[in-house]
Amino acid sequence: MSKPSLRLRRVPTQGWGSTPGIAPLLPLLLLLLPLQAGANCPCQDPALCQPIRKHPNFEVFVFDVGGKTWKSYDWSQITTVALFGKYDSELMCYAHAKGARVVLKGDVSLKDIIDPNFRASWIAQQVNLAKTQYMDGINIDIEQEVNYSTPEYDALTALVQETADAFHHEIEGSQVTFDVAWSPKCIDRRCYNYTGIADACDFLFVMSYDEQSQVWSECMAAANAPCNQTLTAYDDYIKMGINPKKLVMGLPWYGYDYTCLTLSEDHVCTIAKVPFRGAPCSDAAGRQVPYKVIMKQVNSSISGILWDENQKSPYYNYKDSAGRFHQVWYDNPKSISLKATYTQTRGLRGIGMWNANCLDYSEDAIAKQQTEEMWKVLKPKL
Ligand SMILES: *[C@@H]1O[C@H](CO)[C@@H](O)[C@H](O)[C@H]1NC(C)=O
Ligand SMILES: *[C@@H]1O[C@H](CO)[C@@H](O)[C@H](O)[C@H]1NC(C)=O
Ligand SMILES: *[C@@H]1O[C@H](CO)[C@@H](O)[C@H](O)[C@H]1NC(C)=O
Ligand SMILES: *[C@@H]1O[C@H](CO)[C@@H](O)[C@H](O)[C@H]1NC(C)=O
Repeated sequence: MSKPSLRLRRVPTQGWGSTPGIAPLLPLLLLLLPLQAGANCPCQDPALCQPIRKHPNFEVFVFDVGGKTWKSYDWSQITTVALFGKYDSELMCYAHAKGARVVLKGDVSLKDIIDPNFRASWIAQQVNLAKTQYMDGINIDIEQEVNYSTPEYDALTALVQETADAFHHEIEGSQVTFDVAWSPKCIDRRCYNYTGIADACDFLFVMSYDEQSQVWSECMAAANAPCNQTLTAYDDYIKMGINPKKLVMGLPWYGYDYTCLTLSEDHVCTIAKVPFRGAPCSDAAGRQVPYKVIMKQVNSSISGILWDENQKSPYYNYKDSAGRFHQVWYDNPKSISLKATYTQTRGLRGIGMWNANCLDYSEDAIAKQQTEEMWKVLKPKL
């Protein structure tokens, strides 16, 4: 069962199969592709179809879920774009012109990958897709449940190892990364071989968000990514023996809107019990909202922007048209800069976000400034 609040993350990757008229020609096309690789380059400058080889000192790893807002991203910072929406050759050409990698989304059923033959054919498919689309690697996003000492546990580590070997061999300079939960302590029953996976790939993208997916104590609204809990979890990854240079910090550019069952004078918002993977309550009781929507709403809140000093997170309360109270927890430049500073002091590989499309890229002057500030706080300050 996939967690409802992860719905934002579930975007199917587009492959060849979805193009109707091309199906009968497919075998022929695949035969011709290796010969005509240069000729098929969609970029004005065919050199832009070459893979990116340069390895940056600091990664800024960006998830894109589709549309054309990428034209307004801060390309002076971006080093990798993971395409979780539809493939966009214009984006690929543009990213390459800026020296940024463009990588596939990799998602596969864990039951299937226990079979080494299945793994091999899945990997061959991904490499082929990356090559035909002039892409620079793959971001493996498997958020499924795994237990220790199971066939899936070892198969997953093998999958990452074999994928990295194949990509590195077939596409020069390519990048293979893996998404992990905010903490290595079997969050959401994802008990993976974290050290084995980190060794096998270029780096882990740590999803430092959805940190209320399993709430074991009181069911109340809380920060998506409380500062201390977030940073302590990096210490946990490092204590396991994972090199900080194998860790990219993933920040949320979205928050959670909770409907309060009760809202107290001192802003305690109790929420409905929605169990998730063994825990009695979860952020699945809330709704994910992008930063741009939050920024449109915050001035009409009943509380104004509040700041929780323990969690180091902003939040606010509002009343909906049916008269129900809501509490919204999110991240802003202030909360993000505290985490971004840690990537520097701890010497992490880089920073990134889910997802770049969450900001307002319109021409509106206030929105423009808020969007600029969100990009700006990612920058190393040293
Ligand atoms: C993991 O273990 C739990 C508890 O024994 C079990 O309920 C669950 O089905 C297992 N999950 C998988 C994917 O094997
Ligand atoms: C994790 O993976 C590594 C590399 O494959 C392996 O050497 C190690 O034994 C694995 N750890 C566990 C606990 O299985
Ligand atoms: C988190 O809080 C604990 C207890 O207050 C403190 O000892 C620790 O240094 C904090 N960790 C970080 C990374 O700030
Ligand atoms: C909300 O209020 C703040 C502080 O008064 C102001 O700076 C900001 O421009 C307002 N935002 C919008 C969208 O009107």
